[in-house]
Amino acid sequence: MTFDRSIKIAPSILSADFANFGQEIRAIEDQGADWVHVDVMDGHFVPNLTFGPPLCKAIRPHIKTVMDVHLMISPVDAYIDAYADAGADVITAHLEAGPHIHRTLQAIRGAGCKAGLALNPGTGLDQIEYLMDQLDLICVMTVNPGFGGQKFIASQIDKVRKLRAMIGDREIHIEIDGGMTPETAPLMAAAGADVLVAGSAVFKGGSVSQPDVYGQNIAAIRKAAQDAQDAQ
Ligand code: DX5
Ligand code: ZN
Repeated sequence: MTFDRSIKIAPSILSADFANFGQEIRAIEDQGADWVHVDVMDGHFVPNLTFGPPLCKAIRPHIKTVMDVHLMISPVDAYIDAYADAGADVITAHLEAGPHIHRTLQAIRGAGCKAGLALNPGTGLDQIEYLMDQLDLICVMTVNPGFGGQKFIASQIDKVRKLRAMIGDREIHIEIDGGMTPETAPLMAAAGADVLVAGSAVFKGGSVSQPDVYGQNIAAIRKAAQDAQDAQ
């Protein structure tokens, strides 16, 4: 993975057909997805249950781009090696998931993955100052984690702007997760984000037999975001 701040679209397979992950992943990658975002939920940190390490391992051979694993689980440390072994390129843990986030980030890099830190909408930036050198990505949640298809929380635009200034020249991606559409993505791109996760807005209206709809959805989000980034 080389670093740049170009706009990257990361479809969340939470909105894919769960009976057909291999073909769904091939379809979104053929249609322009830059990363594949995998939402792991434990029914404890968030009120929903999704993918364990065996599922991640099973889909890994189908991913040609980047496997971006978002762990919405607590505790998290005991599972890092399993998701790394399953083939994650990026592992993101939540600041709110436990008392030892510094150790968690060390463990993620120690397992050979890029380290991501996710912040819930209610979490401020005051706790990340001494984590900056441990980080490859910061994920700003623009919905409360747990479900796809929720409404974008606009107060996070200001958070991303402040975060971009804090990051400066450091090679840290800003990822946005939740409610991304061609209307909301440009707001975040203008504020400084480069990785845009989108579930419902990518998969809406398409299927593996109509993959061009995925392509149109991805292109619409990308164009809106790129135009906003270029205008900065
Ligand atoms: C929310 C997940 C998101 C979600 C995004 O807990 O982390 O990745 O699936 O879905 P949309 O794009 O539908 O808001
Ligand atoms: Zn996510």
